[in-house]
Amino acid sequence: MLSLTNKRILLGITGGIAAYKCAELTRLFSKAGADVRIAMTRSATEFITPLTMQALSGNRVHLELLDTEAEAAMGHIELARWADLVLIAPATADFIARIVHGQANDILSTLVLATSAPIAVAPAMNQAMWSDPGTQSNLQLLRDRSYHIFGPAEGEQACGDVGLGRMLEPAELIEECASLFKSDYLAGRKIVITGGPTREALDPVRFISNHSSGKMAYALAAEAVFAGAKVILISGPVQLQTPDRVTRIDVESADQMLEATLAQIEAADVFIGVAAVADYRPKNAAQEKIKKSTGEIQLTLVKNPDIISEVARLDPRPVVVGFAAETNDILENGRKKLQKKNLDLLFANNATETFNSETISVTAISPTGEKEIPTANKNVVARNILQLIAETLTQKS
Ligand code: PMT
Repeated sequence: MLSLTNKRILLGITGGIAAYKCAELTRLFSKAGADVRIAMTRSATEFITPLTMQALSGNRVHLELLDTEAEAAMGHIELARWADLVLIAPATADFIARIVHGQANDILSTLVLATSAPIAVAPAMNQAMWSDPGTQSNLQLLRDRSYHIFGPAEGEQACGDVGLGRMLEPAELIEECASLFKSDYLAGRKIVITGGPTREALDPVRFISNHSSGKMAYALAAEAVFAGAKVILISGPVQLQTPDRVTRIDVESADQMLEATLAQIEAADVFIGVAAVADYRPKNAAQEKIKKSTGEIQLTLVKNPDIISEVARLDPRPVVVGFAAETNDILENGRKKLQKKNLDLLFANNATETFNSETISVTAISPTGEKEIPTANKNVVARNILQLIAETLTQKS
């Protein structure tokens, strides 16, 4: 089960009879090389003890949201960020309903809300509760939000009923989780990404810039690491944490971004230009703060280097991927940029919706065709984008 090696699994246990199977589930995760941390709802502790789960996982079990000792060791937000995958098993009908509504009234629901990792749910409940329209529409909402739903299985239930609602067996859940990670599709690849805005100085305290938050670039960096790549992120000034296992190089201006890119590009398989690079900079940045004058002042701007075009000119060159945030004629402008900058792929998006937002929709444009990736969280879209890039890499090699 190579794909689970070194993966960080946050196992959330809720209060159903199938909770006893989590002992075996945790043992199998550890055997497969995964690092397992456990959070339990209060009712889950009625079915299996935290001590058992602690012994099997080798880590302290998280039970309370407001637990000073646990928070000192690994706070809930840190734990939510730590996970590569959150698996809720068993997931009761009540817990599913709570996360559908975004409730955060215990440690586990809070973790679900706070994580940006993929979330998988293994429902376990009585067959009538399973087929109830309330449960079914809740599950549909989770599917719409890209949750993975594992099971349930059909068979005899603890209450004596027969039907759908049994939690999948631990070995089956391990298979399902491993299949989510069979995504080492960028293993061994080196990817250089630019992200965020650039700042072009007017004087020591003022600059020209734009509204890029870096969220799209950082989501791509995190997902690329997850898919096995070595990632160098050349970042303009943003207020974001560096994703785990990403090498980040901070720059301010377009000139600095170009310099850092050329220094890192050797042996890169892919270059992704997500940065909103300022096309122009003040011709002469004043050495001292510009003083207010009575009349108008003139500002002369000169062209900045086009970083992505420079990369596309290299020989040999990586697969070169651009982004284009447009306010009008999005596809047409995107196609023109693909051609003009000699790119392999370009992701056109609507500038009025994508700067500094959590979600994005893009159209992938290549010399051979186009594909829409519908609106979703930037992490989810990043995964789709990287899969398309991986296909391009395969075609080129
Ligand atoms: O950062 P977020 O808030 O998450 O927002 C994401 C985003 C809107 C910044 C992102 O989705 C996006 O579209 N980035 C490109 C912004 C843009 O409009 O770029 P452009 O059309 O000016 O340039 C086209 C391509 O050339 C881009 O890949 C850009 O990085 C690159 N370029 C542009 C100018 C320049 N001097 N050098 C470059 O490398």
